[in-house]
Amino acid sequence: MKKIAVLMGGVSSEREVSLMSGKNIAEALSSLGKYEVASVVLDEESLDAMPKDVDAAYIALHGGWGENGGAQEALDRLAIPYTGPGAKASRIAMDKVKTKLVLEYAGVKTAKWSLAEKDAKESPLPLPVVVKPPCDGSSVGISKVSKAEDWPRAVAEAVKAQGGEGSVLVEEFIPGREMTVGIIDSHPLPAIEIVTKSGWYGYDEKYFSEETRYPFLADSANPADRRLEVELKAAALAAYKACGARGVTRVDFRVAPDGGIYVLELNTSPGFTSHSLVPKSAMREGRTFAETCDWILNSATFDRQ
Ligand SMILES: Nc1ncnc2c1ncn2[C@@H]1O[C@H](COP(=O)(O)OP(=O)(O)O)[C@@H](O)[C@H]1O
Ligand SMILES: [Mg+2]
Repeated sequence: MKKIAVLMGGVSSEREVSLMSGKNIAEALSSLGKYEVASVVLDEESLDAMPKDVDAAYIALHGGWGENGGAQEALDRLAIPYTGPGAKASRIAMDKVKTKLVLEYAGVKTAKWSLAEKDAKESPLPLPVVVKPPCDGSSVGISKVSKAEDWPRAVAEAVKAQGGEGSVLVEEFIPGREMTVGIIDSHPLPAIEIVTKSGWYGYDEKYFSEETRYPFLADSANPADRRLEVELKAAALAAYKACGARGVTRVDFRVAPDGGIYVLELNTSPGFTSHSLVPKSAMREGRTFAETCDWILNSATFDRQ
């Protein structure tokens, strides 16, 4: 029987979500009856708490060291196969500026962008823009600037979210719809639309709003959405390949009213609670939550050091 460590917790702001993802994944893998599952809660940025005699590690950590290449590199050193992208792809995806450079080079469309220093008096791009810290998740420190007077506060918030230093990312605001496509082992899953009341998928909409809906694009009454689904899957796969991702990743998009598709970001350790979008999307294709975890586990590998 193969022994699997499910890594969860960690010290990032997403610890609580990770504990939920990890619990669900550990239960699911155990239910398959073919794995000996060890639930490993990490309380620091190290694998000291993990038994080293495991056949693979299932990464249920979100954000910070668990998702930015740190844990991946540590597993590479131990030569233990792990789920999700390797250290290099994780590092690219965790940094929105690096991601945009890689995607542009590969010809995958992202919103026009620039960088701004913390004392910049005005936006380097025409308003409206979105100001964000290059290396954070969960929408903290991100704001839309529609009027010049809102610029200083937006920059200050983004700078604060990244610890008070460094330049911030400024992006052209893309109006329209928000979509996400999960990928497992190079297979794009059905696209999900994220419908919020405000048209903005910020912190409150992500974690608190009861009004955010997540319909499958395939259920849309608009026939043009069939074509959009095909295009989104192709763009998601192109982004995944460009960043060198493998295993599971979720690619987030904005779709402009003219049909233009823009990649916002890649999430290399997407949420895996029972309400999360990747398992929901895999289930749409007829897999159970446990089968989806098994599929991801089967794609586990490591990079030789
Ligand atoms: N360029 C943009 N145009 C329109 N909306 C955006 C843009 N960038 C971000 N947003 C909104 O902000 C949300 C969070 O931005 P995102 O870049 O995905 O950061 P995070 O890593 O925090 O999720 C998006 O889901 C989207 O609703
Ligand atoms: Mg996002």
